[in-house]
Amino acid sequence: MNFELTEEQQMIRQAARDFANTELLPGVIERDEKQEFPKELLNKMGQAGFMGMMVSPEYGGSGLDTLSYVLTMEELSKIDASASVIVSVNNSLVCWGLETYGTEEQKKKYLTRLASGEIIGAFCLSEPEAGSDATSQKTTAIDKGDHYVLNGTKNWITNGASADVYLVIAQTDREKGHKGINALIVEKGMEGFELGPKENKLGIRGSDTHSLLFNDVKVPKENRIGEDGFGFKFAMKTLSGGRIGIAAQALGIAAGAYELAKKYSQERKAFGTEICNHQAIAFKLADMHTEIQAARLLVYQAACDKDANRNYDMSGAMAKLYASKVAMETTVEAVQVFGGNGFVKEYHVERLMRDAKITQIYEGTSEIQKIVISRGILDR
Ligand code: CAA
Ligand code: FAD
Repeated sequence: MNFELTEEQQMIRQAARDFANTELLPGVIERDEKQEFPKELLNKMGQAGFMGMMVSPEYGGSGLDTLSYVLTMEELSKIDASASVIVSVNNSLVCWGLETYGTEEQKKKYLTRLASGEIIGAFCLSEPEAGSDATSQKTTAIDKGDHYVLNGTKNWITNGASADVYLVIAQTDREKGHKGINALIVEKGMEGFELGPKENKLGIRGSDTHSLLFNDVKVPKENRIGEDGFGFKFAMKTLSGGRIGIAAQALGIAAGAYELAKKYSQERKAFGTEICNHQAIAFKLADMHTEIQAARLLVYQAACDKDANRNYDMSGAMAKLYASKVAMETTVEAVQVFGGNGFVKEYHVERLMRDAKITQIYEGTSEIQKIVISRGILDR
């Protein structure tokens, strides 16, 4: 196996690194504190080509492979995981889902603008009482001939306020179980569609997370993605790829914290020497470096599986499960390396520690990844 990056992939990684350092780093602490992500910064991410990285140029995207996308996610996440989750949802859930399963009309109407970053997308599956157990959702999309009538509440939706286009998964025929679920494209401003309260979060505070309320929203039939009853499989297939993006986010958070801890340990002195000369600290760095590299191999493997058209349900789940664990453990240790300064906002590692936790929860908790992996192993 050869993970030698092409010249193009190295350039993409460098461009993402430069963008993260020049555009995302200034203001990252303030955005976290104020729970905001300015529209101008969102526009800059679009102009930099981050919003439709894997979308074909025919629909305004960059036509890049998954590995290039993962490299970008890793670099952005080292600095600002709120920015990278916006990128992740738009790319791997919304754009990928529309390009893979949407009609030509849907792609022309929505995908081109989403890929350029002119508009932003959201993916709406979770509900107050249906997160992991996604088929038990209560939101309904009742078939009324030429349109559906949508009623219900979606919870914890990333880009909830900033999005213009929402992919909403809802029950049309409860008796048919997961085969009675549809995925609908809902536009901001449709009558009866309201934004619920904003969540006040532990981490990724720059990214907006809202509940969404649907009250008799009329959604035209041409806004359904795929055949009648395809909605749950649409969600599952889309999330399989999404999990690779979140795994890359976790990898980036871990790598960002490690790089900061390594640098600090070479500068900070205690007992007459730089703290990296104390074996307890040097071994922490050794563990972090090893674990991050192991996570990186799993993440790149999953991306390569997707690019080679191999099944990536299991490799994506393994990458997310492992990289998110490494993100959590590495960031906790990075705070320890910083001592008291690790507890202070201006040194960044406390934010990375808070941001790491979500990677074990969204796009399927770690327990759910183990269900996917064990079913894969046992061929179920
Ligand atoms: N690809 C295609 N089809 C799939 C699939 C996949 N990856 N996974 C399941 N399916 C199909 C199954 O084959 C089955 O179809 P058939 O009956 O025709 O064979 C159907 O879907 C139902 O599958 P299961 O019986 O396995 O369903 P389940 O109820 O046991 O649930 C689960 C499986 C994996 C636990 C699933 O419910 C799940 O992934 N839950 C987690 C939900 C989740 O990840 N939510 C994330 C929300 S988005 C988000 O979080 C974004 C963000 O933060 C930024
Ligand atoms: P629950 O399903 O109630 O799980 C609670 C605990 O029980 C977890 O530890 C879980 O692993 C465990 N558990 C549940 N079932 C099992 C089982 N069968 N076996 C073992 N353990 C189990 N959703 C979207 O649709 N779109 C988004 O854009 C989005 N963005 C999010 C952003 C943030 C910041 C957050 C916090 C969440 C977001 N979510 C989004 C929702 C997220 O995907 C869910 O929170 C997640 O899937 C878990 O669901 P839950 O919170 O209902 O937990």
